[in-house]
Amino acid sequence: MSGDPVAVRFEHVWKSFGSLTVLRDVSFEVPAGAGFCILGRSGTGKSVTVKQMIGLIQPDRGRILIGGEDIVGLDAEGLARVRMRMGFLFQYSALFDSLTVGENVAFPLRRHSRFGEDEIRERVRGKLERVGLAGIEEKLPSEISGGMRKRVGLARALALEPPLLLADEPSSGLDPVTAREIDELLLDLKLKEGTTLVVVTHNIPSARRIGDELALLHQGRLLARGTPAELEQSEHEMVREFMKAEGGV
Ligand SMILES: Nc1ncnc2c1ncn2[C@@H]1O[C@H](COP(=O)(O)OP(=O)(O)OP(=O)(O)O)[C@@H](O)[C@H]1O
Ligand SMILES: [Mg+2]
Repeated sequence: MSGDPVAVRFEHVWKSFGSLTVLRDVSFEVPAGAGFCILGRSGTGKSVTVKQMIGLIQPDRGRILIGGEDIVGLDAEGLARVRMRMGFLFQYSALFDSLTVGENVAFPLRRHSRFGEDEIRERVRGKLERVGLAGIEEKLPSEISGGMRKRVGLARALALEPPLLLADEPSSGLDPVTAREIDELLLDLKLKEGTTLVVVTHNIPSARRIGDELALLHQGRLLARGTPAELEQSEHEMVREFMKAEGGV
């Protein structure tokens, strides 16, 4: 991943589940250090697209390159190596319910780093503080709100300070102020640390803020791709309409 000018590249990716074809010949690339937002209506394959980037779902056809390396068909060891350089925030947070918040955030550090306990504790404290949740290490996921769980998921995704962060609807279900704070945090990572962001969002104002480039999925195809200004002037009326929506599409 390091040094490659392209963080993520999809080449002619197809994916079906049974008779349902979700992605049809999807190709795009995410430049290293860019903010890339994936938009589209519910059920168009946004989550499937990002899950393929971490090898949780395999495409039927096509290549998926992460930092220049094709991850399709990689074995567990190869995937683990690639995942060490990626943070992933799942759409539904996916915290481990039986682990405390602190243990959740520490999980990737224990698994993939050689940090000692003191270092892990310090890193966990710092990441929770970064998402505005200082001091809740001892709580269980069931004891905090949905929005807080989402932010804990983000802290966990940031634990290894990955050069590539994938976030599936990081601000959905959050109040507007917190959602805005998450946007600011993501922007900060991109601008100050050069983190590449791939963000699935339904929120157009948020996509405008974070996204250098937006990609709109529609019925399994990449209908449009470009800067927010380019999409606003798209030849497709649907794309223009989509860009006018203020969220919740
Ligand atoms: N593991 C799976 N097995 C079978 N079908 C799946 C699987 N994962 C996703 N699908 C189907 O693929 C389609 C796309 O799903 P996906 O979760 O990517 O949608 P999405 O664009 O993320 O939608 P939303 O905005 O609601 O999150 C849906 O019809 C879904 O039911
Ligand atoms: Mg989804």
